[in-house]
Amino acid sequence: MGKNPTDVWEILLKDWESEIWNIPNVKANHPEKTVHPCQFPIELVERLVLALTNEGDWVFDPFVGVGSSLVAGLIHNRKVMGVDKEKEYTDIAYQRIVSAIEGNLKRRPLGKPVYQPKGTEKVARPPIEWLKKPLEEWIK
Ligand SMILES: C[S@@+](CC[C@H](N)C(=O)[O-])C[C@H]1O[C@@H](n2cnc3c(N)ncnc32)[C@H](O)[C@@H]1O
Repeated sequence: MGKNPTDVWEILLKDWESEIWNIPNVKANHPEKTVHPCQFPIELVERLVLALTNEGDWVFDPFVGVGSSLVAGLIHNRKVMGVDKEKEYTDIAYQRIVSAIEGNLKRRPLGKPVYQPKGTEKVARPPIEWLKKPLEEWIK
């Protein structure tokens, strides 16, 4: 639940048994969000890196975008290499790698439980206009 979660393997095992990896996608308020329109969550690649490679192995991503796979590899002591046709993305990938090495890359930690809305959040409340009219009138 904290910076170094002790329940990480419990969560990963539960996901494995339910055959669903429940990982939030990278959108507006995600800590990893960059300008890339279809960026992977680092955690998605971390799980693959841990399952399919050993420390010191190479992780190569020929469509690297902003480098999520490379960051995932580096965090787990793999050697990494990537290619992308857009320099804008590889520049960001480079910066993210530097931040990861320096230990200050913003990222969602592996195995962090998915936020469960309580129903009191602003987005869960009906708009004020809806409250002016009884619900029955809306569903007629
Ligand atoms: C789904 S995105 C990958 C995103 C990446 N996983 C990340 O988290 O940033 C696919 C990437 O492939 C790149 N791409 C498409 N065609 C390519 C090509 N022929 N050679 C190299 N990169 C290419 C695109 O620029 C895009 O960044």
